[in-house]
Amino acid sequence: MSNSSAGMVFLPAGEGMRGTLQVPGDKSISHRAVILGAVNDGPVTITGFLRSADTLATVDAVRALGVSVEDSDEELIVHGGGWEGLTEPEDVIDVANSGTLIRLLPGLVASRDFLAVFTGDATIRRRPMARVLAPLAAMGASVAGRRGDTLPPIAVRGGALRGLAHHLNVASAQVKSCILLAGLQADGETTIYEPAASRDHTERMIRFAGGEVEREGGADGSGVLRVRPTQSLHMDRLAVPGDISSAAFFVVAALLTPDSEVTLTNVGLNPTRTGLLTVLTRMGAHIDVQPDPLQEPEPVGCVVARTSSLIATDIQAAEVPGLIDELPLFLLAAASARGTSRLRGAAELRAKESDRLKAMAELLKALDVDVVEYPDGMDVIGRPEGPRGGTVRAYADHRLAMVAAVAGAASQEGVTVDDVRCIAVSFPDFIDAFAALGGRSRTTGCAPGVLRVRHEARQ
Ligand code: S3P
Repeated sequence: MSNSSAGMVFLPAGEGMRGTLQVPGDKSISHRAVILGAVNDGPVTITGFLRSADTLATVDAVRALGVSVEDSDEELIVHGGGWEGLTEPEDVIDVANSGTLIRLLPGLVASRDFLAVFTGDATIRRRPMARVLAPLAAMGASVAGRRGDTLPPIAVRGGALRGLAHHLNVASAQVKSCILLAGLQADGETTIYEPAASRDHTERMIRFAGGEVEREGGADGSGVLRVRPTQSLHMDRLAVPGDISSAAFFVVAALLTPDSEVTLTNVGLNPTRTGLLTVLTRMGAHIDVQPDPLQEPEPVGCVVARTSSLIATDIQAAEVPGLIDELPLFLLAAASARGTSRLRGAAELRAKESDRLKAMAELLKALDVDVVEYPDGMDVIGRPEGPRGGTVRAYADHRLAMVAAVAGAASQEGVTVDDVRCIAVSFPDFIDAFAALGGRSRTTGCAPGVLRVRHEARQ
């Protein structure tokens, strides 16, 4: 497919965004289910698994480590054989666009006496890796990477690991999870100090499988994690909830578009992931959250969002990890709020699938919204009448392409985005789901209609 035909115009959703949707499985939890499943003591049946470019790269990666994975439409069965079941991959492991995979899997294999080499697409090869390679080296693994062990491709030759006390410089769940996975096979306790609470799916899943991880939290949101070595982990079944990061696009689309009410069912409600709902509610959004009966290891429920008039708010560093992936959506919501919103302490956004601060500043300016970009954040001067419309770039970043769709629905004149194929990274059926709720779009340059991105996943 040529680049020109991968573009899309998202039109104002004239009759509002309305309806009920079950979003696909949580990306972070799907990755972890397969990664921990690979060392499970026996087969684990995973339901609700997200089939997207990122998570299918994880399935391929554990297969390359000698683990058998059966995939039917209903469920995914990972035939774990403990750490002893992992074997040296014959080739370089390609993580595609997945930062979570290239940060977590080195931790899983760091105790194995073999060589594993990881690389990924052009954006992955720009993403910082010293943050995981340095602690793995301190635990006793041999590590290497391009540009002085800072960038992919990276190599890990595992071996006997020591327990570690490690202070995280950034509140990163990926780094924390890498060290926790390695710590499960170290010779003693591993302690991780985190400056703020980040998503805790790895901790929950380790406990669910019988492992030992504890967290002591400070009043400022910081915390100390302790993980003890374990001989074996065991899960029979694991249910992956719907991804709140995917649901978030429809929540914000409903808030910003007149005459809208959207219900999202079976959404993961882990409190380390619901930061966007907290912030939007503070801005005056009409959002109802109805938790389902408690299920392990992750809470789920239903989220209802209706058209709302928003007022500006500020976000500081401690709140950032709870909505790290939803910050582009927050900035878009702020663009329609009354007053000036300020985001600070979010420099990490520059090291995601794209430089999301730069890309969002550019996107909002293209829609006639005034912003001031800072090294670690942005001021957004809201215009309650909504973004005017315009032409934006997604920088091959799935979340930015979906932000463009939401912006288009809420805009006065529509939003054109250069390329939507990247959406397959986390939400292959997004365009169909968006249309089912009233979103209007057409491919650029040629016949109107809906562009399916699923089959573009591996391009
Ligand atoms: C993720 C953690 C976050 C997030 C990413 C997924 C995870 O990254 O941005 O999309 O699954 O652990 P950091 O932990 O590096 O902030």
